[in-house]
Amino acid sequence: MRLSLLTSLAALAFSSYAQSPSADAYVASESPAAKAGLLANIGPDGSKASGAKAGVVIASPSTSNPNYLYTWVRDSSLVFKTLIDQFTTGEDNSLRGLIDDFTTAEAGLQQTSNPSGSVSTGGLGEPKFNIDATAFTGAWGRPQRDGPALRSTALITYANWLLANGNGTSYVQNTLWPSIKLDLDYVQNNWNQSTFDLWEEINSSSFFTTAVQHRALREGAAFAKTVGQPSVASGYTTQADNLLCFLQSYWNSDAGYVTSNTGGGRSGKDSNSVLASIHTFDVDAGCDAASFQPCSDKALSNLKVYVDSFRSVYGINNGISATAAVAVGRYPEDVYYNGNPWYLSVFAVAEQLYDALITWNKQGSLDVTSTSLAFFKQFDSSVTTGTYRSDSSTYSSLTSAIRAFADGFLEINAKYTPSNGALSEQFDKSSGTPLSAADLTWSYASALTAFAARSGKTYAGWGASGLTVPSQCNGNAGPTVSVTFNVQATTVYGENIYITGNTGALQNWSPDTALLLSAANYPMWSITVTLPASTVVEYKYIRKNNGQVTWESDPNNSITTPGSGSATQNDTWR
Ligand SMILES: *[C@@H]1O[C@H](CO)[C@@H](O)[C@H](O)[C@H]1NC(C)=O
Ligand SMILES: *[C@@H]1O[C@H](CO)[C@@H](O)[C@H](O)[C@H]1NC(C)=O
Ligand SMILES: *[C@@H]1O[C@H](CO)[C@@H](O)[C@H](O)[C@H]1NC(C)=O
Ligand SMILES: *[C@@H]1O[C@H](CO)[C@@H](O)[C@H](O)[C@H]1NC(C)=O
Ligand SMILES: *[C@@H]1O[C@H](CO)[C@@H](O)[C@H](O)[C@H]1NC(C)=O
Repeated sequence: MRLSLLTSLAALAFSSYAQSPSADAYVASESPAAKAGLLANIGPDGSKASGAKAGVVIASPSTSNPNYLYTWVRDSSLVFKTLIDQFTTGEDNSLRGLIDDFTTAEAGLQQTSNPSGSVSTGGLGEPKFNIDATAFTGAWGRPQRDGPALRSTALITYANWLLANGNGTSYVQNTLWPSIKLDLDYVQNNWNQSTFDLWEEINSSSFFTTAVQHRALREGAAFAKTVGQPSVASGYTTQADNLLCFLQSYWNSDAGYVTSNTGGGRSGKDSNSVLASIHTFDVDAGCDAASFQPCSDKALSNLKVYVDSFRSVYGINNGISATAAVAVGRYPEDVYYNGNPWYLSVFAVAEQLYDALITWNKQGSLDVTSTSLAFFKQFDSSVTTGTYRSDSSTYSSLTSAIRAFADGFLEINAKYTPSNGALSEQFDKSSGTPLSAADLTWSYASALTAFAARSGKTYAGWGASGLTVPSQCNGNAGPTVSVTFNVQATTVYGENIYITGNTGALQNWSPDTALLLSAANYPMWSITVTLPASTVVEYKYIRKNNGQVTWESDPNNSITTPGSGSATQNDTWR
């Protein structure tokens, strides 16, 4: 995964590569192979994971050229999200013990001091550890700030299932929530710092990292409320809004694609953006472009630009029609192992397209906009902008062609997968021979998630629906301060006091989601909220009684938060 000098590489000799060229046949044979390949790489009992602690995912059993016998937080979290999705939707009920091993192993890694720091001084940004769960102390591209976001997403999915399935709250509150909160606090406090990207090469801002951080804080805010932590939730919401705002800045409107890294001096056309779209898919959000949903016009335009950038750089793509599926890799400028297609990048293109088909089918229509027109023209050169309902012939012909295009990407991987179904990291751009790390766990996970999307499977949304991009971006992820609001208010039985105001932490003036104050010292009502430091915040208290909302009289209340520490604001209901 890491850029390193290409050493002479004996091409792996394998006798019969090329699986059956049909997508259906490939899914049938590769599904069990990928699942078995994935499980073999998880300790303590995985057949290729000897020496790995329980719940630790090895990236690959390869120990030289390259040595990937380590555990990465990013890879492990994506792998376990796949397993947790299978478990929580009833597809595989045997996985609970392994998932519990994972949550325990990751909680241990969080507390393991490492070159990025201790648990409270930045250590959560450490990208990789030894497989016995000790710190890796060699030189590396660190920190990588997507890991805590992806890990919290996996854990929240599992925690929500436990809560919904009669586990009671104590296990989730006492065991999972502390781990989840550490990761989310890290994201909340550090998202606006530079990071190494998911390929561990560029230290700047990275679209994938920003997108998965946004998702984590959004679902983290909802989860914090579920476990009775509304003021923690409001802090997450504040930074989720800032992340959503920042996410927009990666879009290159002139050229119609996402510039995946702000540094690095590359074109920015990168599998990074496709992986971001599939790992933040929320079918409830429709084709929302602000969160780059798979069927959004921006994500489709980006997909075309990204795919096309590989048509001329890999020999195995020679002679393939300009509108057919081709082999794709991380980014066209890649030189790692000479720069080749990656199985997981090919699967990701297919998955984005299957996700798009799921959403169009659900909403009963698809939109062709000026932004996505070039994407759709690949399938029908005469198509024009407009909304096509699912009972129209244009909808039928476009969606059939897009499904065939998506299947084409599976067929590319099928062609270069050996007959035993083993998936390495890459395949050679000229010969198609598998190369680099053998049995890459992430390759297997990417096959399983693409196949699930092909079969129409979706998972719980994470709150991408109905979001509005704030009109002003605030890049200041910290510092924050803790502010206690006390208000003297007499109430009648059944009536409660809430607060809302002009920041995400105060629910942006929403009476529906306003924060409930505690009446423990009635007639004083109180709440402590995390707010941005040195900021003017406007707010009002409201009364709610049986759904009836009464606002305080004008004007709005206002405070200027301190630069650090905490503050108390004493008010009397007006
Ligand atoms: C809740 O789930 C956890 C994780 O599987 C398990 O260890 C614990 O015993 C369960 N508790 C209850 C009350 O079911
Ligand atoms: C990454 O970039 C930031 C901002 O330019 C810089 O402060 C930091 O030292 C860099 N980190 C590494 C490891 O190069
Ligand atoms: C921090 O946020 C601001 C405003 O959104 C943005 O301009 C800046 O690039 C961000 N910096 C990093 C390193 O993400
Ligand atoms: C209070 O703030 C809201 C939201 O910004 C605004 O619409 C309203 O006019 C303000 N009220 C007064 C009296 O300024
Ligand atoms: C607010 O009220 C609390 C409790 O009555 C009191 O301890 C505190 O000194 C007051 N703070 C301010 C800033 O008035």
